Amino acid sequence: MDLYDNFFMLAGPVKIHPRVLQAMSRPAFAHRSPEYSAIIGECKEHLKYLFQSKNDVAIISGSGTAGVESVISNLLDKDDTLISIGGGKFGERVGQMAEVFGKCVKVPVEWGKAVDLEELKKTAEEHPDAKAIALCHNETSTAITHPAAEVGKIAKKHDMLFVLDGITSVGGIEVKPDEWGADFTIMGSQKCIAAPAGLAAVSVSKRGYDTLYPKKTYYLNLKKHIDRINKDNQTPYTPAIPLIIGLRECLIMLREDGLENRIAYNARLGQATRNAAKALGLRIFPDERFVSNTVTAIWYPEGMNDKEFRGKLKKDHNVIIAGCQDHIKGKVFRIGHMGLARFEEMAATFAAMETVFRKMGYADFTPGAGVGEIVKGME
Ligand SMILES: Cc1ncc(COP(=O)(O)O)c(C=O)c1O
Repeated sequence: MDLYDNFFMLAGPVKIHPRVLQAMSRPAFAHRSPEYSAIIGECKEHLKYLFQSKNDVAIISGSGTAGVESVISNLLDKDDTLISIGGGKFGERVGQMAEVFGKCVKVPVEWGKAVDLEELKKTAEEHPDAKAIALCHNETSTAITHPAAEVGKIAKKHDMLFVLDGITSVGGIEVKPDEWGADFTIMGSQKCIAAPAGLAAVSVSKRGYDTLYPKKTYYLNLKKHIDRINKDNQTPYTPAIPLIIGLRECLIMLREDGLENRIAYNARLGQATRNAAKALGLRIFPDERFVSNTVTAIWYPEGMNDKEFRGKLKKDHNVIIAGCQDHIKGKVFRIGHMGLARFEEMAATFAAMETVFRKMGYADFTPGAGVGEIVKGME
């Protein structure tokens, strides 16, 4: 496998553009310098564009989970309750995190389905003292995009804060923190903006900021991060300097492309991917009314071995796609199409998938049927 030139179709990390790699390869320099403050200041402004919100932003050195933890750990004390919506690995993880710092009421969701809004309303009514509702907007493990605007309305009606894990939606799917009343929206660098892994950013409303405990955590103290970036475009502790330089380049590229164009491209690519899977006689895993446009989850044909299939794709064709976790492991696979993923790469992915499927004994489709759908979507 050629590590430098492959088809990297994961739901994050995603392929990094050479411009970003180049921007990061420079000698070390002092993070407390005016030059570096200017870089953070630029990132701050571009992040407000990315989040489509005037809210304050914090840049956290750490992966997406650090961004989520910077919110949950400073929002909940041991007697505070979070209503957490499940339905996949990442939604459920927020619930687990809430139990570490406070209390959690879980709204279970069957994997592959979107949250049942009636059940959520009932839970909010039964727990009027809950401090916040948390939703993983784009549940990457099941390829579902939950109706975040509706969840925001329920939070507002019950005067609860709204925490939105937008790690695989911000920059790839429409996210409107202000309109939806999201007090905390979190993104991860290695996903839709195609930056290297290792940074998270959090968009925080005024109300959200005022509700945070000032001294519950140290490194992940979200208030401190916001205060410092607002004061002098700095971070409280040494940031991941090269990653922030890479982040800036990604955000410049995002502005060049335009957020709306990126979102529209992802939507077309997502639709073409689903059409291509169906043209091969495959079934989409999640409820199609709520499918994600940044990742697609597909049932394997009967009897197909996940490890062998993905292994051959990688070894023989340099195509890398993802499996699944927990009870759908081995039964469903995922193709990421976020970041800078292109139709041309998806066509190559389906060409390889068709070949491997046929080799492994699944041939209930006309050769080229999947690739054809990608080509149609590209026109
Ligand atoms: C929706 C979502 N939330 C949270 C995470 C965790 O982010 P990280 O692995 O960057 O800590 C992921 C990672 O894939 C994700 O997709």
